[in-house]
This record gives sequence, structure tokens and C-alpha cells, in this order.
Amino acid sequence: MPSYRTKRLTVGLAAVAALTLLFAQSVRADDDESESQVRRGFQIVPPGVHLNLAGKNRNLVGLGSYIVNSSGCNDCHTHPEFLPNSNPFLGQPEMINFPQYLSGGRQFGPFTSANLTPDAFGKPAGLTLRDFITTLRTGHNPNDPPGQILQVMPWPVYGKKTDHDLRAVYEYLRALPPLPDNPHPGP
Ligand code: HEC
Repeated sequence: MPSYRTKRLTVGLAAVAALTLLFAQSVRADDDESESQVRRGFQIVPPGVHLNLAGKNRNLVGLGSYIVNSSGCNDCHTHPEFLPNSNPFLGQPEMINFPQYLSGGRQFGPFTSANLTPDAFGKPAGLTLRDFITTLRTGHNPNDPPGQILQVMPWPVYGKKTDHDLRAVYEYLRALPPLPDNPHPGP
């Protein structure tokens, strides 16, 4: 017959083991966080948009999709934003305007949002990775005349992201189907 003391020890040890397990699981959940963002990223690519993953870093593409598709780039860089009868603000099931996805053309007074899809050389918005990061960090595209700063574009917000996050956004944009500048710009 196990003594009262042994039983108490057993219960104590079991509790310690359970807590250790719980702790280990919560640590693992933290490690999985970036993995789950990549997974979520692939889930929220707008239907109809076919990514080209050849020669791309798959994890960065997934993370980039997570950031782009949950941070409003589409609001300003796709025009119009939704397909007809697919506007969630009107209570309709959402369908993003995939044939024009991120090809720019939304006008804000004198400013028109840029085409973010890859150019003929595969560069999103025609920018190298380095120029892309500089543009999002400083609002100044190094290819523009000195002193010119992007307007409307919330670069002061996006520029606070890590290099890794901005690289991921770039990698996702690189995987998009290339489109000509939106032929029907409008407000
Ligand atoms: C509130 C509207 C808005 C949002 C949201 C927005 N943009 Fe923009 N973006 C613009 C406009 C407008 C321009 C052009 C600004 C100008 O010409 O001064 C622009 C320009 C850019 C440029 C510069 C292109 C060039 O050739 O210089 C890049 C890159 C860019 N946006 C990326 C993004 C990304 C990535 C996101 C999401 C993370 C995003 N934008 C979200 C409005 C927006």
C-alpha cells in the first residue's frame, strides 16, 4: 500500500509534469506563429490570382501574402477594388478584382497608385529589392527626382516593418502575374 506521503509525491510530480508539458506546448505555439502566418498567407491570396512560385522563396511569398492581403495594399492599388456585386461593404460576398489585382490606377487627386506587379524583368513596380525597401522606409523612390516623396501612400506606417517583412512583401509581389498599368484609372 503506498503511503499517504508517496501518494502526495506522485500527485506533485504529475502536476509538475503536466505544467512542463503545457509550457512546452506554449513555447512550440510561439515557434509556430511565423509558420501559421505563411499558411494563412497562402489561404488569403485572392481567388483568381495565380502565383508563380518558380525561383521564389515559398516561405517569404506566404508571409508576404499575409502582410499584403491583411494590410490594405489592395484598397489603393487595385481599381476598382472588387468585382461587380462583390463588395463586402454592401453586404455582398467579397470577390477582389483579380484581373486588375495590384495593377494600380486608383486616383487620389493628382496622385495615382502605382502598378505593383512585376515588370518585364520580374521587378515589382520596376523596383530592385533595395530600392523597394528604401521607398517604403523613406517615401522616396531613389529613381525619382531628389526631394520627391510619395503622397497618400502610408509608407510611414509600412516603413516600420522589419527588413524580413519587407523582403517578404517584395517576394510575394514578385510572384504575382505581371499586368500592364490599369487602363481605366479612376477615383
Ligand atoms: C491609402 C492608399 C495606399 C495604400 C493603403 C497603399 N498604397 Fe502604395 N501607393 C499609393 C499611392 C497613391 C502611390 C503613388 C504615390 C505618389 O505618386 O506620390 C503609391 C505608391 C507605392 C509604391 C511606389 C511605387 C513607385 O514607383 O514609386 C510602392 C512600392 C507601393 N505603393 C507599395 C505599397 C504596398 C506594398 C502597400 C501595402 C503594404 C501599399 N502600397 C499600400 C497608395 C497606397
